[in-house]
Amino acid sequence: MDRILIKGGVPLQGEVAISGAKNAALPLMAACLLTDQPLELDNVPDLADIGSMQRLLQVLGVEARLLPGAPGRMTLACENVLSTTAPYDLVRRMRASVLVLGPLVAREGIARVSLPGGCAIGTRPIDLHLAGLEALGATIELADGYVTATAPGGLVGGVIRFAQPSVGATENLMMAAALAKGTTEIHGAAREPEIVDLARLLEAMGAGIEGAGSSVLRIEGRPTLGGARHHILPDRIEAGTYVMAAAITGGRVRLTRCRPDLLGAALEKLEEAGVSIEPTEDGMVASRANGALSGVDVMTRPFPGFATDLQAQFMAMMCVAEGASMITETIFENRFMHAPELLRMGANINVHGGTALVRGVSRLNGAPVMATDLRASVSLVLAALAAEGETEINRVYHLDRGYEQIERKLGNLGARVERVA
Ligand code: UD1
Repeated sequence: MDRILIKGGVPLQGEVAISGAKNAALPLMAACLLTDQPLELDNVPDLADIGSMQRLLQVLGVEARLLPGAPGRMTLACENVLSTTAPYDLVRRMRASVLVLGPLVAREGIARVSLPGGCAIGTRPIDLHLAGLEALGATIELADGYVTATAPGGLVGGVIRFAQPSVGATENLMMAAALAKGTTEIHGAAREPEIVDLARLLEAMGAGIEGAGSSVLRIEGRPTLGGARHHILPDRIEAGTYVMAAAITGGRVRLTRCRPDLLGAALEKLEEAGVSIEPTEDGMVASRANGALSGVDVMTRPFPGFATDLQAQFMAMMCVAEGASMITETIFENRFMHAPELLRMGANINVHGGTALVRGVSRLNGAPVMATDLRASVSLVLAALAAEGETEINRVYHLDRGYEQIERKLGNLGARVERVA
């Protein structure tokens, strides 16, 4: 299994291009199941999760391929659905596999998807996905670890009310509603930029969608949808991570192919903590505003609030800030697994339930550490970049799920980073 070795202490300098958003690409790829016409996606990141979704779609009958000589361009075509079952072996690798449920049942009248089960950052149920499909007329059965949704006469538009916003459930139901008879309203919808990106694709395919980016969505279903070409929006989490890599090392990094506005409330929190973010024509320049970073309290919230996917990285930065920071996680239970690893590097963190109190220390020290999930592992990379000495990060496959060519990108910024098999 690969490991990453980082010798810390180099202020990062230079330019980094931000990749297309993984969390947008996954639902956009699943949307190909809604039509027998080809979809063409640009700016697809080269990540393990994209490969997992590609394999799952291939099992279902999709011809999904990256075009040779055109980096990031993928065509997906599903003339006929060959299977309506998403098997356990593929779903357990990636929870986002559940995104095929809505499109499959909408097109075929039946879909069978393995229940994703627990994962490192909590139980993460799919009850909202299922209740939403029932509101569109599907019958749901759970047996043998699989959920089966059936709607032999097709789905029918309905009113869905979420008690809490769910990104995945909103996406699944938007796709299902795009092929349902009549109009669907989703109240309490998630407002993440990736939802807006999916709405743009579904519109290009022929569906009528109003309200994307707000908490009420109105979707006009169509009997059939067509092909489309779509450019995937930049990865705001990758961008936020490189902003913090610049800040934690006291460097100055120009991020291209991204947008500061996609950072939502994280932008203000970063600035409050002493990170300077200057917008540019195609991105931003990140550096430390003046001298030290300072402790700032954050609470994770659905977009436009502070993203849970940036919480671990922010905690790494707070470990070396002046003063204390209270970090409260409200989206996922059990999402502080980076804290004990950061402690091993000399951080001062106290976790009580969903809150972590971080008292800044003057420096971190390199240590062997272990990644437990995608964002936890990148927070260890950030800590390692700032630490004295060498850090060895194990279980790098988590990083490969969500960060395209991370060691090359960091290396180009001057970091002393090496991957060893
Ligand atoms: C997506 C992102 C993930 C991000 C998360 C929150 C993708 C592929 N992944 O995950 O990176 O951390 O949004 O921004 O886009 N919930 C239920 N019942 C459900 C569905 C969700 O209770 O049926 C709960 C979850 O347990 C969690 C909260 O709702 O507490 C938000 O989860 P959700 O927005 O659904 O996250 P994902 O779509 O899984």
